[in-house]
Amino acid sequence: MKILIIGSGGREHAIAWKVAQSPKTEKIYCAPGNAGIARMAECVNIGTMEFEKLIFFVKEKKIDLTIVGMDAPLVGGIVDVFEAEGLRVFGPRKNAAILEGSKAFSKDLMKKYNIPTAAHETFVDPEAALQYLENTKFPIVLKADGLALGKGVLICHTLQDARAGVKEIMIDKKFGTAGNRMIIEEFMTGPEVSVLSFVDGKIVKTMTSSQDYKRAKDGDQGLNTGGMGNLSPAPFYTREVDEFCQKYIFQSTVDAMAAEGRVYKGIIFFGLMLTSSGPKVLEYNARFGDPEAQVVLPRMKNDIIEVIEACNDGILDQINLQFTEETAVCVVLTSKGYPASYEKGFLVRGLDNFLEKEKCYVFHAGTKFNEKGDIVTNGGRVLSVSALGENLKLARKNAYKAVKLLDFDNKYFRHDIGKANNSERGI
Ligand code: AMP
Ligand code: GLY
Repeated sequence: MKILIIGSGGREHAIAWKVAQSPKTEKIYCAPGNAGIARMAECVNIGTMEFEKLIFFVKEKKIDLTIVGMDAPLVGGIVDVFEAEGLRVFGPRKNAAILEGSKAFSKDLMKKYNIPTAAHETFVDPEAALQYLENTKFPIVLKADGLALGKGVLICHTLQDARAGVKEIMIDKKFGTAGNRMIIEEFMTGPEVSVLSFVDGKIVKTMTSSQDYKRAKDGDQGLNTGGMGNLSPAPFYTREVDEFCQKYIFQSTVDAMAAEGRVYKGIIFFGLMLTSSGPKVLEYNARFGDPEAQVVLPRMKNDIIEVIEACNDGILDQINLQFTEETAVCVVLTSKGYPASYEKGFLVRGLDNFLEKEKCYVFHAGTKFNEKGDIVTNGGRVLSVSALGENLKLARKNAYKAVKLLDFDNKYFRHDIGKANNSERGI
């Protein structure tokens, strides 16, 4: 089969790497891709929102299956446009991708179908939001309704902070139209875990769990980022937690979507918080996580194309999803200054030192070729280094050993991904 992957980050590199292992794969294309993906795929310079150009390319190259890695094209309806042309594509349609595209939608869905989540109210009028805040407890959480690159969530400790937050989201429109509506949500505490899943319209099958390191600095300090590292499985995600989530969250979400006439096919990423009153949904995403994909896919034993086809054909019940017993640790190498401002264009050194047989993988996040054909930095997150090990200690050791092999000016990373004696993370 000829496969097109849409996206350009570490997640899409991990997907491409996994797709390359399928005996069904003849050729991989990626739009727009990056310098790492170019090792296994032909990268084509078409933007992820240029649906007409993508369709033209898919028809021209006779591509059999398109896998959409990113949220924006899914929320923008790429799947509907492809399906209208009779093209095979993996991901939820627009009316289902709203599960990620609108927090007001997903919160109302959870309320209606009794799926455990924090209590919330939705606002379209900033005055009404400000009024509501007068009689609320702090901390409180403000969320822009739409896509905001993972940045539209503000945890406010005082009324003053919250007032400033309403202004930022709804009046100044810091996150653009994502702030046309805003959620005010009860503040919860507890460890966070992520569970990715495949969904075929009827049933859901979960992959192994993972745990994200979202803050920029060691010790969970600094700004929230797209993800500075990850490990899988998540130590707190016990059998009991899994049983609860399987019973009250995962399938209930898929059933709720079907009941609303929004049949869901694709990936659902469940962002969960394990509170003292049980697991609750923090958020849904309509795609693999980044860097969750970089720890989950190296542990997946199945042929990913077979699983994706089973989702598209509504026969996921025939698939036995399997993951290795190993632990995976991913450390993201960023450009100093990320997620605020950072420089690009620095030479990346040491990429040839990698040996996959040592179960170490470097997935490119933001790289490109310069005019001379050298690989240079081209984003905030530059590389994600994933390593497997028999246990967390070994996986962490392998990952950090690999981190030392790679270098570029302004290289920055967290030193504490998977570090022991972190009771907040169950390690
Ligand atoms: P989200 O994009 O909704 O996952 O939110 C981003 C991050 O904000 C989460 O990973 C949590 O760390 C935090 N967060 C979101 N909602 C809440 C909440 N209700 N209570 C406490 N923390 C939250
Ligand atoms: N790492 C979080 C996300 O992909 O949304």
